[in-house]
Amino acid sequence: MEVKEILFMNKGDGENSYVKSSGYMQKVAAATQPMVSGAVQSFFRENCSNPPLEVLNVADLGCSSGPNTFTVMSTVIESTVKSCSELGREIPEIQFYLNDLVGNDFNTLFKGLTVIEEIFKNVPWFAMGAPGSFHGRLFPRNSMHLVHSLYGVHWLSKVPKLTNEGGLPLNKGKIYISKTSPPGVREAYLSQFQEDFLLFLKCRSPEMVPDGRMVLIFHGRKSADPTLRESCYTWEILAETISYLVSQDDVQHCLLSPSNLSKMLLAKVQNQCISAFDSIVVACISRPKGEFESLSLNFLAIRE
Ligand SMILES: C[S@@+](CC[C@H](N)C(=O)[O-])C[C@H]1O[C@@H](n2cnc3c(N)ncnc32)[C@H](O)[C@@H]1O
Repeated sequence: MEVKEILFMNKGDGENSYVKSSGYMQKVAAATQPMVSGAVQSFFRENCSNPPLEVLNVADLGCSSGPNTFTVMSTVIESTVKSCSELGREIPEIQFYLNDLVGNDFNTLFKGLTVIEEIFKNVPWFAMGAPGSFHGRLFPRNSMHLVHSLYGVHWLSKVPKLTNEGGLPLNKGKIYISKTSPPGVREAYLSQFQEDFLLFLKCRSPEMVPDGRMVLIFHGRKSADPTLRESCYTWEILAETISYLVSQDDVQHCLLSPSNLSKMLLAKVQNQCISAFDSIVVACISRPKGEFESLSLNFLAIRE
């Protein structure tokens, strides 16, 4: 099963929703707005000898259900107004394409747009949903002036193949690269990322106008070693917790009551600050019948 068929962030605007638990991403969004603003300004500056632009097309890829996409929209509108005023040009109409996978809560996203409506009453902007995977084509040729993605592009399209030639699991007891993972595991993740990112770029390439801008913000690390704490700390904790539940024969109980897992995670991390897991899909195999079932398991945000 591919990620695009099952992935979504927690829906709605309740306590455990993505809207209420994306504080970490909000901080990243706030820190990266100067880059977004710089991209818009340089686009207008370098294209000021062309005929005035009537419509500026902007895409936010992997936008989820808010509120960070509203921060990006505000920055783009403000920077467009500022750039055009400085260059003595008419402000173009701004068309936003808000993209995420089909399971995304677009209704909550659209309801949240009232925030932008309130602030920018006198600027001609429009928004529409663009459902689908950014690992495929999303927009017509030669149409996008600015493509932005915050914390989306590092999501893989599928879990890499993690079995050896004999079909045995390579990464037993773990759910990501860890200190104990054999080299084949990190190679598999690297190769999946390379394949996905190349596809992402190949799909965007025809969609961008010449001299268009792309701002991609995604998870990275400073060290070449992917097993350091900065890269896999959260996944280690999650793997340990799941292993513990399995050893306690408590998996069924946990699946019936996802908050148990959140509480265990919360207890594990205690006072440490880590980013939130929004949802995890657990594939369960019913052994007697050999059937697959997928569940969406929701977590509480984990905060300091
Ligand atoms: C951590 S959220 C970030 C959301 C938002 N950009 C923000 O900063 O708050 C990552 C988002 O990327 C989306 N995503 C992951 N893979 C995707 C794909 N192949 N195509 C489109 N969206 C994808 C997820 O559904 C999720 O909403």
